[in-house]
Amino acid sequence: MNREKYYIRAYGCQMNLYEADVISSIMDKAGFAQVSNEREADIVYLVTCSVRNHAENRVLGRLNSLKQLKKSKPDLIIGILGCMAQNYKGKLSNGHGADLVVGPDEYRRLPELVNKFTQVHKPQIQTEFNTENYEGILPKVVNKTTGFVSIMRGCNNYCSYCIVPYVRGRERSKPKEQVIQEVNNLINNGVKDITLVGQNVLAWNGDGLKFLDLLKIVDGISGFDRLRFITSHPKDLTIKHFDVLLTLKKFCPNIHLPLQSGSNRILNLMNRGYTKEEYIQKVKKGREIIPDISFTTDVMVGFPTETDDDFKDTLDVIEQLKFDFAYMFKYSERPNTKACEIKPQVNETVSQQRLTKLIEIQNQITNEKSKELLDKTLEVLVESKNGVQFYARTKTNKVVIIKEPVETGKTYLCKVIRVAGWTPIGKIINN
Ligand code: SAH
Ligand code: SF4
Ligand code: F3S
Repeated sequence: MNREKYYIRAYGCQMNLYEADVISSIMDKAGFAQVSNEREADIVYLVTCSVRNHAENRVLGRLNSLKQLKKSKPDLIIGILGCMAQNYKGKLSNGHGADLVVGPDEYRRLPELVNKFTQVHKPQIQTEFNTENYEGILPKVVNKTTGFVSIMRGCNNYCSYCIVPYVRGRERSKPKEQVIQEVNNLINNGVKDITLVGQNVLAWNGDGLKFLDLLKIVDGISGFDRLRFITSHPKDLTIKHFDVLLTLKKFCPNIHLPLQSGSNRILNLMNRGYTKEEYIQKVKKGREIIPDISFTTDVMVGFPTETDDDFKDTLDVIEQLKFDFAYMFKYSERPNTKACEIKPQVNETVSQQRLTKLIEIQNQITNEKSKELLDKTLEVLVESKNGVQFYARTKTNKVVIIKEPVETGKTYLCKVIRVAGWTPIGKIINN
């Protein structure tokens, strides 16, 4: 049988990377064959992100070149899936050339929609919301050392700048049994490092259990080494979390805790539900209880009405807490979110200047943090290889480069002999 071939590429957050494997699983089961090269594909799926304008533009650029490709390959099927599909619906087919536009809750229907398109040659737009959790599906795992398990979908927090609640729908937790099955599936396929993902994992609940209960259950499953989770919302993080994390065998001491802003006035306008002081207190407590813990964060500049003083407050937290790493963004207005009503907008040049300044300061800190690793002995898990260079990860989520032959999927002790920029170079000390 000549199976139709699909190529899939995910943009955006861990959720999309995870769901690309859910989609692959659905497609394989329906008899389609995945290819790793776009040129061989009969169907190209882009799993898209709407979180910032820039993310959308990248996909629109890609969509445009696929549209050109279609001139020489008229049978090519282009599918825009995920958050942009939900956001723009039919607009992505009219003018932009998408044949399938399928939102995050409708992936089960992909095989049927492909077949329908092949028959009728009319764009198929599916963007209904439901309570889809993809239960009963084991995401495809191919040759991986690290893997994700989504434990919840959607978001109810409505941070005023954020499009996620509008494109992903209401928050829903995945039942414990499904989570355990997926963890076991990853283990059976050789995965050693497992990250539980969700827009706000701390809000997970099910059958009277809470997130920490689930974490203890997963931690007790044997056959893998490392357990992580992302993302934690600062408003939901408590001292109890650190106390419990300390008792887990596999927890890797790193918490991604998006700060967004250090100004209480801006945090309030963002609807974040915590103050600068509360945030600082939580990080300090975390470091007290789990001394080797690393904190990473997301920060945004240029939120509407942000003044130089607000920005100074953000820099103050950055300088005080010294995050191991930060993702830093310029505010990007998302249509129909509450923040659109907050005026005045910050001028583009000012936003850019603030971002540049923030990046400069954080880069310095990230560098210093990396230098602290010099001469330290670290346990690393080798994840991938590029030529003669291997990339290995510490429990605290730092990537170390190893330039001697090692095996991917294996754990080694290494000593950091040099730090290039902020990348530590390690030498293996056991074999
Ligand atoms: N659920 C996660 C991830 C949200 S999106 C969380 O709550 O942290 C990831 C990051 O993108 C956010 O933390 C925020 O810093 C950034 N972001 C979200 N909306 C944005 C917008 N409109 N403009 C700029 N950055 C944004
Ligand atoms: Fe967006 Fe806030 Fe939900 Fe995160 S918690 S996805 S920033 S609304
Ligand atoms: Fe982007 Fe959707 Fe994730 S908007 S950040 S891909 S949930």
